[in-house]
Amino acid sequence: MTFFEATCTAPVNIAVVKYWGKRDTSLILPTNSSLSVTLSQDQLHSKTTIRASADFTSDRLWLNGIEESIEKNKRLVACLRETRALRAQIEAKDESAPKLSGLKIHICSENNFPTAAGLASSASGYACLVYTLSKLFELPLNASDLSIVARQGSGSACRSLFGGFVAWEMGEKEDGSDSRAVQVAPETHWPDLQALICVVSDEKKGTSSTEGMQLTVKTSALLQHRIKNVVPKRMEEMIAAIHNKDFPRFAELTMQDSNQFHAVCLDTYPPIFYMNDISRAIIRIISEYNKDGIKAAYTFDAGPNAVIYAPQQNMREIYAILSHYFPGHAFEDSLGLKKNDTVHALP
Ligand code: PMV
Repeated sequence: MTFFEATCTAPVNIAVVKYWGKRDTSLILPTNSSLSVTLSQDQLHSKTTIRASADFTSDRLWLNGIEESIEKNKRLVACLRETRALRAQIEAKDESAPKLSGLKIHICSENNFPTAAGLASSASGYACLVYTLSKLFELPLNASDLSIVARQGSGSACRSLFGGFVAWEMGEKEDGSDSRAVQVAPETHWPDLQALICVVSDEKKGTSSTEGMQLTVKTSALLQHRIKNVVPKRMEEMIAAIHNKDFPRFAELTMQDSNQFHAVCLDTYPPIFYMNDISRAIIRIISEYNKDGIKAAYTFDAGPNAVIYAPQQNMREIYAILSHYFPGHAFEDSLGLKKNDTVHALP
């Protein structure tokens, strides 16, 4: 059997200015710009292998070892359609280029962490899918161009095409050609900043981000205030804090933005709750820890799990405090604290 194959990995990113709300649900155009930190590949990542062959009779997908339907997944279909069209352009120009755009493909993707538990699995998953397709099809696109395709799989995925600190500029155009990710600073810019993932629950979340966002856009007046009056200034301030490596300002903005995102969820009708009692206890612990000066920042996505950002020198102490409040054997397992380590804060 002749085949063409590519394998890639892509990391998770965790937003410090959150994306929540679409102005166009099929192109996935957001109602506000957002900004995230891409975590190290050594910890949470997706790994995808894609093979194209004339012997395949249909496109097929295996996610964490289980076969899933491609046809039912409109966003995956959109990513395939876009990348195949770009490959077809190459083949039209260059007669000697192998005819890959017409071949069926098999996709095999795995996450090394719980899928759909608010740990940004769709971000790394779609970034990995689009990046692997671009390698398979040898597309001459840069990361920002690819982010436009990845965005159509899952909005937050566009930011995982870059390492370091990444902004997703919402853009203005109706066709989405200016709604793309750009790197604000590379991963080498602020090596002292670390992220700790606290796995409060690894269950699948109740309300998907797609459903949740649509309901928020329809019903929340607070979202409209956030879009117009809060995020544009916050983006500027966050970029300045990152450039200046100003941790207290970075942390304050991160926590305020997480709080406002969850307030917007509460303002949705009927309300959406992503945090649980343990998430709220983590907020209280970090707030108390910051009483005499900001030493850590918490942030929560569409799930109960916390991500704590802090300078390296504070991490051991934060780890000790969290293990004091949330003792448990899964927690003991991750003691040798590494960059971007995972804390299992299960009670
Ligand atoms: O890309 P989605 O549809 O999984 O949405 C992600 C939304 C948040 O994680 C809550 C915020 C963000 O900017 O990543």
